[in-house]
Amino acid sequence: MTFVGSAASAAQFPQDGLPEVAFLGRSNVGKSSLLNALSGTRNLARVSSTPGRTRLLNFFRVGDLDAKPDDAFYFVDLPGYGYARVPEAMRREWESLVSAYLVGREPLALCVFLVDLRHDPSEGDETLRAYLDHYRLQYVVAATKADKLGRGEAMKRRDALARGIGRNAVGVVAVSAEDGAGLAELWKTIRAAVPSTKGKA
Ligand code: GTP
Ligand code: MG
Repeated sequence: MTFVGSAASAAQFPQDGLPEVAFLGRSNVGKSSLLNALSGTRNLARVSSTPGRTRLLNFFRVGDLDAKPDDAFYFVDLPGYGYARVPEAMRREWESLVSAYLVGREPLALCVFLVDLRHDPSEGDETLRAYLDHYRLQYVVAATKADKLGRGEAMKRRDALARGIGRNAVGVVAVSAEDGAGLAELWKTIRAAVPSTKGKA
């Protein structure tokens, strides 16, 4: 995985038409960590100790650099929502940037919608789900930080999410960037949505 660039507006989104997989979820849920873990890169997508720091869309090219161009695709790290200390003007900026990306973005093949496995979905999570459903975007729910729960509890909470916020998703996967749980299953879903890829990272 290689960092390609950041975008602060639609004019800066890639123009090459390669498929895109977007990572969405509230601030601090683990988007950048999951992206790094999936691609086996340590800390390429910046993991923040200060929530709410990622303010841009970051594009990472995934796939063998020597591969045919049509085997490659992008991971897109989107800024998180729901950080309490973000001023209203900044929140609106977030909304307009994220909707500029999500609505009518032709190369967007799949959204990875991250929620924290340990907590009930937040109001922001519910808003995002309604939004994804409204625009008929295909998404998989990745329930993060599974390593912080025991196996039984993790399965119970995953099932609850599958009946709840993930009911319209193509799948609900409990994942951990820490110990790698669920990553193979998530890759399967990503590969199915981006058929041209061989899933190389
Ligand atoms: P923003 O960019 O601020 O929206 O955050 P983010 O969603 O990209 O989260 P990030 O990957 O920066 O992770 C936030 C914090 O959660 C960091 O301290 C990570 O180390 C931690 N974290 C992320 N994933 C996991 C996980 O699977 N397990 C555990 N235990 N901690 C995790
Ligand atoms: Mg991040």
